[in-house]
Amino acid sequence: MGKFRQKYYDYFSRVYDRFVALHSSDRQGNLRQCLSEKTGAEKGDKVLDICTGTASLLQHLKKMTGKDGMVVGADFSKGMLAVAKEKTVNTDQAFLVRADVSHLPFKGQMFDAVTCAHAFYELRGNTQDQCLNEIGRVLKPGHPFLMLEHDVPKHFFIRMLFYLRLLSMGTSRAFDILKHEKELLARYFKYVDKISTPTGRSKIMICRNG
Ligand SMILES: C[S@@+](CC[C@H](N)C(=O)[O-])C[C@H]1O[C@@H](n2cnc3c(N)ncnc32)[C@H](O)[C@@H]1O
Repeated sequence: MGKFRQKYYDYFSRVYDRFVALHSSDRQGNLRQCLSEKTGAEKGDKVLDICTGTASLLQHLKKMTGKDGMVVGADFSKGMLAVAKEKTVNTDQAFLVRADVSHLPFKGQMFDAVTCAHAFYELRGNTQDQCLNEIGRVLKPGHPFLMLEHDVPKHFFIRMLFYLRLLSMGTSRAFDILKHEKELLARYFKYVDKISTPTGRSKIMICRNG
């Protein structure tokens, strides 16, 4: 695991939720509600949210999977997971796991859906490919992977902040995944669809095999 990057996210965790609200006008959680509905998850299902951060998505997913289901949030940042823990009511149905997405500590074909929100473009180099392989391994055959990503912001100031953040992360492939995500995902999934979100500032990629 990259220690420097984990530290970066540990510090970022302190202001992360406020930053997201500013960028995506997501104060009511509409965006995450929309993403969880698109998983098609049903009561009793198991759903994994990778790069879960402060676990904003888990509470929505939990409503979908109910008391017989299970949601798991995986992330490599202690800081993010600490904020997540404060927000998430720990029950038998919700778990937070510290893990790098390049090696997911789960059995094969275990999950009914995998989600990744506002994070994939920040994965560096080979990690994107390793992560997509891992997602394919832990998903049940024919079940979906859903990726929520920012569209490039229209507002000049927010756009500059957004680009600065990408540059500061040193992510050479970040711009690629923002603009050519379909081509990358199609290397790992047979079907790749793109839909816009209600805020109009993000997009959801829905991918599946078989
Ligand atoms: C921009 S935040 C997104 C958080 C959350 N998904 C959301 O929608 O608010 C990116 C998250 O990805 C996590 N992350 C980045 N690289 C990772 C890796 N290689 N393995 C696990 N988590 C990683 C960071 O710790 C951070 O919490």
